[in-house]
Amino acid sequence: MTDDLQYDNDNGISNPSDNRPFQDVLRANLARRQVLKGGLGLAAASFVAAPSLANAGFRHWPRRRGLINFTPVAVADGSGPMPSISPDYQYDVLIPWGDPLEPGGPAFSWPPNAADQAQQIGIGHDGMAFFPIDQSDCSPFDSKFRRGHWFRPGNYHGMLAINHEFGGNSHVLGKSSPESLEEVRTSQHAHGVSIVEIKKIHGQWRPLASKNARRIHVNTPVTFSGPVAGHPLLQTPAGNIPLGTVNNCSSGPTPWGTYLTCEENFNGYFGATNREQTWLPTEAHQRYGFSEGGFGYGWEKFDARFDLSNPDYKNEEHRFGWVVEIDPFDATQTPVKRTALGRFKHEGATSVIGKDGRVVVYMGDDERFDYIYKFVSADHYRDMLDRGQSPLDEGTLYVARFHEDGSGTWLPLTLDNPDLAGHFHDMAELLVHTRIAADLAGATPMDRPEWTTVAPNGDVYCTLTNNSRRTEADAANPLAPNPDGHIIRWHDSEEHTGTHFSWDIFLIAETTHGTEDSFSDPDGLYADPDGRLFIETDGGQKDGLNNQLLVADTHTGELRRLLTGVTGDEITGLTMTPDRRTLFVNTQHPGNGDPSLTNFPAPYDGVTIPRDCTIVITRKDGGIIGS
Ligand code: FEO
Ligand code: CA
Ligand code: CA
Repeated sequence: MTDDLQYDNDNGISNPSDNRPFQDVLRANLARRQVLKGGLGLAAASFVAAPSLANAGFRHWPRRRGLINFTPVAVADGSGPMPSISPDYQYDVLIPWGDPLEPGGPAFSWPPNAADQAQQIGIGHDGMAFFPIDQSDCSPFDSKFRRGHWFRPGNYHGMLAINHEFGGNSHVLGKSSPESLEEVRTSQHAHGVSIVEIKKIHGQWRPLASKNARRIHVNTPVTFSGPVAGHPLLQTPAGNIPLGTVNNCSSGPTPWGTYLTCEENFNGYFGATNREQTWLPTEAHQRYGFSEGGFGYGWEKFDARFDLSNPDYKNEEHRFGWVVEIDPFDATQTPVKRTALGRFKHEGATSVIGKDGRVVVYMGDDERFDYIYKFVSADHYRDMLDRGQSPLDEGTLYVARFHEDGSGTWLPLTLDNPDLAGHFHDMAELLVHTRIAADLAGATPMDRPEWTTVAPNGDVYCTLTNNSRRTEADAANPLAPNPDGHIIRWHDSEEHTGTHFSWDIFLIAETTHGTEDSFSDPDGLYADPDGRLFIETDGGQKDGLNNQLLVADTHTGELRRLLTGVTGDEITGLTMTPDRRTLFVNTQHPGNGDPSLTNFPAPYDGVTIPRDCTIVITRKDGGIIGS
């Protein structure tokens, strides 16, 4: 059932630049690797800026009462067709793929038709954010909430914005390739974003009828703002209006209550039929990974927008690869692509309020040897909003360079950066080709940057999920190859807005194999206000495990497994209610769509189509999630 090509989102390497800024300062790679294998803590300390942060490489920390007190899921219990959760916790299932967006909508049937899918929850559940609705007239049906001192209406009622990253044709359509425009539309409607109003009623979360609920998919009208808006690079000869968002991976809420959804592997949905003319990839096409066959979705065969060889739709590919802002409380709002945040394979947009109230957004570009970025708004975000200006439309985009000595520099991607001089006519051209600008600036090629998260002390963590093709280690990417990934941590100057930082390696996944802490391929990431770090995985886990959710204590390095998913899935997406007593995560592509592997959320029967869904997690004693 699986279409392997479609599930390998990271085929190939599309960074051919020579950026190896560490090369002249690297230690001998072989020696480093030996040191790393011999003792990670020692190796990490040798290139860590702040010795107190020298926490790389997990060891078996003594178990003690502290931030994390739950009984972990044992390795022996972490496989099979159903999830396993810590005995101190319980889970429920919410909004599986194909359920109606609102009660009374079209019920799931497989395979769906295009019209129904546009009114149903999409597939490929990924990044999400819970926006509480603080209505005093919402009665708490759960008596624990009523009696508890942490009662607040917003803890059981809110808008859930959720990304639908991707669904392979076999899973969605029941065939490897679409055979009509109708089937392409079904696939397109399964992608995008859902905005769902959810409420806890009689102890169970469920969707409500809502004036704010909506589906945003590949054919939803969108608009552009920021430096690229209105530029010829976004115009097609056909003159078609901008439509849609695709491969919505990670995400993040803004301080002003909107949702940022991130377009990641957008290149894979384009292909070339070569009917109109023979498509020859440009340097920019190659840098962004466009190819004649794409990921095999076959949209280009019936929808000319996605045919790179159709001259009428030249530049359509420039309309994807952006961060898109969505108002979860206004279904009439047109989603806005915020071009100042750059065009690349966006993996997350983590906002934090920095010095002088400027908003800072951290972002990864998930490709082997690609980069970590941040955007800093031009002014205090409230002042900009008061002026009717988006804080995300004017500011500076930076890319990270990690130095060997534990320091780092944020390199501005601006026309007056001497390294970029003469390469771009204007900021719009630069931003459409952000990856090329970052190559020229001398950014550090990383091992697939995925999620970023900001801890309360200002430390920023970023997952580097793996890089099987790294042949030369450097300080920030210390394993070559790096099959299991690591997590890097930095601290910016000037309360996130400065151009300098210090950094260290928080952990290296390879060190955990064969232990009860075993995990690989860190991806989703969330730092809670107490110093816990929630880590979600996506990739082949070692020691027989399914993908998983773990909780780390950033003070001690202790690591415990809270949940394992089902065969063939990925655990991703993470948001909590304000009281942190309810956690929402997702199982994505359970069984890779193969019902012989899992039928989740249905019990195992070997027949029922497995469906991506949200898993709602609570502590049995009503406590803080992760404790
Ligand atoms: Fe969509 Fe890089 O994970
Ligand atoms: Ca991811
Ligand atoms: Ca991933």
